[in-house]
Amino acid sequence: MNKTEPKHIELKNNKKVCIRQAEIKDAELLLECIKTYIPQSNYIPKYENEITLSIEQEEEWINYFLQNDNSLLLVAEYENIIIGNIDLTGSRRKVMEHTAVVGMGMLKEWRNVGLGTALLHTAIEWANKNPILELIWLQVYTDNKLGLNLYRKMGFEENGIIKNFFKYENDYFDNLTMTKKVK
Ligand SMILES: CC(C)(COP(=O)(O)OP(=O)(O)OC[C@H]1O[C@@H](n2cnc3c(N)ncnc32)[C@H](O)[C@@H]1OP(=O)(O)O)[C@@H](O)C(=O)NCCC(=O)NCCS
Repeated sequence: MNKTEPKHIELKNNKKVCIRQAEIKDAELLLECIKTYIPQSNYIPKYENEITLSIEQEEEWINYFLQNDNSLLLVAEYENIIIGNIDLTGSRRKVMEHTAVVGMGMLKEWRNVGLGTALLHTAIEWANKNPILELIWLQVYTDNKLGLNLYRKMGFEENGIIKNFFKYENDYFDNLTMTKKVK
C-alpha cells in the first residue's frame, strides 16, 4: 500500500535527495545504511556487534510498516543509495494505538545539512493526516545537539529526563523523552 508519495528535496549541500516509503526490496541497502551509521554516532544506544539483523529480518521489519496503519518507514535516497531513514512505530496495544515512537538516523556525511528536518517534516505531515495517531514521541541523549535542536524546532516538547540511562563503561548519559501532539 502506498502511504506517501515520493518527495524530492534539495539540501543545504545543494544535493537533491528523494524521500519515499521503504519497500521490501530496499532491505539490503537499508540494512547496509543502518549498519554504517550506527557506529558513526555516539547517540544510538547500540554497539556494532549488536546489529545482527539478517536481510530476511530486515524485510520483515519493513513489512511491519507496510502492514500497520499507525506506522511509517521512510528512506532518503541519493543516486540509488539509501543514506538515511526515519520510522514511526505505532503501538500495537489498543490503549496506546494513538501513539508512535520516532527513530531516525543517517550516514555521517549527510548530517547537519537539513536531511533530518526533511525526513521529520515528511513523517509529521503523514502523522497529521493519519486517522489513528494523536501523539508521537522519541528519546534522545541530552548531549545530542543536532537531534535536540531538530526536535525542538519541529515542535517537540521536553517531557522528562532519566539520568544515567545510558552507560559506557564508567561514562553515563541522560535520556530525554520528547513528545509532540499531531493534528
Ligand atoms: C540527529 C539527526 C537525526 C539530525 O538530523 P540532521 O539532518 O543532522 O539535522 P538537520 O541538519 O536537519 O538539523 C540540525 C539543526 O541543528 C543545528 N545545529 C548544528 N549544530 C548545532 C549545535 N552544536 N548546537 C545546536 N544546534 C546545532 C543546525 O543548525 C540545524 O538547525 P537549523 O535547521 O535550524 O539550521 C542526525 O544528525 C543523525 O542521524 N545523527 C546520528 C544518529 C542520531 O543521533 N539519531 C537520532 C537519535 S534520537
